[in-house]
Formats: sequence, C-alpha cells, structure tokens
Amino acid sequence: MHLTKEQREQFDREGYLFFPGQFTPEETRTLTAAVPALYARREAFNVREKGSDAVRTNFAAHMVSEPFARLARHPRMVQPVMELFDEEVYMHQFKINGKMAFEGDVWQWHQDYGTWLNDDQMPTERAMNVAIFLDDVNEYNGPLMFIPGSHKKGVVDAKHDLTTTSYPLWTVDNALIAQLVERAGGKNGGIVSPKGPAGSMILFHSCLVHASTSNLSPWNRVSVYLSLCAISNHIRRFKRPEYIAHRDFAPIEMLPDDCLLKDYPVDLPWKTGMPASALATSSEPFADMKRAA
Ligand code: SIN
Ligand code: MN
Repeated sequence: MHLTKEQREQFDREGYLFFPGQFTPEETRTLTAAVPALYARREAFNVREKGSDAVRTNFAAHMVSEPFARLARHPRMVQPVMELFDEEVYMHQFKINGKMAFEGDVWQWHQDYGTWLNDDQMPTERAMNVAIFLDDVNEYNGPLMFIPGSHKKGVVDAKHDLTTTSYPLWTVDNALIAQLVERAGGKNGGIVSPKGPAGSMILFHSCLVHASTSNLSPWNRVSVYLSLCAISNHIRRFKRPEYIAHRDFAPIEMLPDDCLLKDYPVDLPWKTGMPASALATSSEPFADMKRAA
C-alpha cells in the first residue's frame, strides 16, 4: 500500500493518518478469534489491569500466535512506514491492548518516543505506531485521543508514572497538555479521536501526544499496535525485557497482501513459552549486553 502525496502532507501536518475499514471483517476475524487464548495465558507477556484480571496489554503476540505473526509482516501495515522512513524497519514492540468492557483503565497523556528514548535509548524519533482496531471503536469505549500537530514539538517534558496504572509510562503534565491542545485549536480540533469499524487502521508519529480514557461501556476495545523502527535507529539499551522492547533488529520481510487469509508459514519462537533471555534486563549499554550474550 502506497501513500499519496496528500497523505504524506497530511501526516507531516497532523502527525497521524486514519484508514477506516483498512482490513475486511473476514481478515479482522482471524485476529480477533486468536485473542482469548492469548489473554488466558498466565505469562509475563500479559499485563493485567491494576486490581483486576482483565488484560491491559499483551506483548509480543507475533512471537506466539500465527495470525499475529502474519499481521506483523502485513504490507498494509509495514509498507507505508518503510516509505515514510525510506528505510527498512524492524519490530520494536508489538502489543494487543485490551481496554476491556467496564474494566479497561485510562492511558495517561504521553508520547511513545519519550518512553523509547528514556528507557530504551532509541537514538531518534524514526519509529512509528500502526494500530488496527479489532473491535468497533466509538466515543464510549475509550477511543485513542490525539493532539494534532503535537509531534512537531519533538520530545516534551515527561515524568515517569509508576503508580497510576499497572503499566509504567513517561507521562506529560496537565499544564503542558492544556497548552498543546490550545495551540492545536482548543475546542475546535485541539483533540481528535479516530473512530470506526473493526479493521480500521491508524498510523501515528512516535512524538504525537496521545491518551485514552477508561472504558465504562459494555463493549471491548481491543486494538493491536505495531511499533516499527527504522533499522539504523535500533535501541541501544536493554533496560526493559525483550518481550517489551525487542532486540532482533533484522528487517521485517513482508508477506503477500492476502496473508491473513492464507496459511503462509511464519516462525513462532515463543509459542510454547518465553525463554529466560526474553525476561532478562540490563542497565548496560548495547555493546556490553552483546558481549555478555
Ligand atoms: C498506548 O498509548 O500505547 C495505548 C493507548 C490505548 O490503547 O488507548
Ligand atoms: Mn502510547
């Protein structure tokens, strides 16, 4: 899938692109059907909501589950990012966020690149999120909210929030959010939240400031996030375990466009469980870690 000149300009201006119905219901169902078995597993890769059994985030499903391993190589998700970077990309992070009915908790305002820089020492912002909705997303089930154009600010001040939710995040304080929203148009477009049917896709800049509220509706809002990083921009520190911040910097080899509907072979190295190495961390820089491996 190629981006048009207008889409590239819009991405540069707004920091995101929305593709409603990018995947067909039949394609999307192959993914949705695989989620319950993944979420049921009692493994470190399932982070549950604070004080609840509901899964907040599942990491690294592309190492465990065939449909997600195919999605991780899908040209509709990977190719536009390669084109924007004019470089091959590797998988930095792969998440299936639950935001389950009644239980899904808030994601505070943040930039993903803030976390990737502070925790993983990713050198520059040449990394991108591509999200796909596995459920219909509406105004009630905690849609993702963006501040358009906020990516132009680069990395903004953030604090490491280790307490509010069950997942640590570098979050942006309210005063700065208020300023950014005002600058983006205040009540006239200063916050947007793309909504649409399951199978819709959002591509967003790693410095775009975003958040989502809790889900008090009776509808799940499961979404998959591929975080794709330009090869030359690979992380330099392994402070977070490998199932959260990947260490395989090999370029993604795309599959054909029909890969969600046909059985193309894929490797599933963690299918029966994660190796100890996927849980190991180090505060040492990359070169030392490599020697130790
Ligand atoms: C994220 O920012 O990584 C997740 C936000 C969401 O799923 O609402
Ligand atoms: Mn995020």
